[in-house]
Amino acid sequence: PKKVRTRHFHNAKRQGIKITGLTSYDQLSAAIFDAAGIDFLLVGDSAGNTVLGYGTTLPVTVDELIPLTRAVASAAKRAFVIADMPFGSYESGADQALHTAFRFMKETGAQAVKLEGGVRSAEQIRRIVSAGIPVMGHVGFTPQSEHGLGGHVIQGRGTQLEQLLADAHAVEDAGAFAVVLEMIPAEAARRVTAELEIPTISVGAGPHTDGQLLVWTDWAGLTTGRIPKFVKQYANLAAVLGEAALAFRADVEGGIYPGPEHSYDD
Ligand code: KIV
Ligand code: NA
Repeated sequence: PKKVRTRHFHNAKRQGIKITGLTSYDQLSAAIFDAAGIDFLLVGDSAGNTVLGYGTTLPVTVDELIPLTRAVASAAKRAFVIADMPFGSYESGADQALHTAFRFMKETGAQAVKLEGGVRSAEQIRRIVSAGIPVMGHVGFTPQSEHGLGGHVIQGRGTQLEQLLADAHAVEDAGAFAVVLEMIPAEAARRVTAELEIPTISVGAGPHTDGQLLVWTDWAGLTTGRIPKFVKQYANLAAVLGEAALAFRADVEGGIYPGPEHSYDD
């Protein structure tokens, strides 16, 4: 299959073809999503919630994300692989941001990086793009600043719409190839999508965007605990794996597994 490139994102928006993305943190899930034709795989710092067990994204480091990103990139034949820049790896300035982006590009095989923030991150985006590295922006609710935002709060409502629009335009003007809109009203996302040339990717931003992205463990029902309202669960992997573990335990405790067909002869 032909590798997805940034031009695919631009063409999709122009032609009205929706873009699909999932997060991935390992080569097994990456290979499955890639074969299904998912356009991009984001190795999100949501790994802090999903695979690393931190409960938030704040403690996640570049050194932790690099091996996960390398695993996903190794399995993606067609899908465009995006490395998420973790909290503390770009906010100090454009030099720090470029240094981090270089690390992901040199050490993982990702095709692009993503970072949070609109106006406040424009200098960083501009510098990374000028080095030839595609950047995906991320505005609206930005999990790395959840404490500054006062929790998991919907952004862009009422008088916040002007700030949201300013942030989205700042990302585009800085040269990003696409932008994630997280947890904003559907009508606000429609407005941003109409105003921007670059494609918008919704995570809890409704249907009027150029694409949709979900955290794969929420989407596949592997996450236990609270799932955001905007997630549609396409499978119940927690139940499947739980039942498999119970059956395995029953077989082993009952002397049923392993049978002769699973054992080696002399
Ligand atoms: O880390 C992540 O998974 C993300 C998406 C939810 C946008 O940043
Ligand atoms: Na993220």
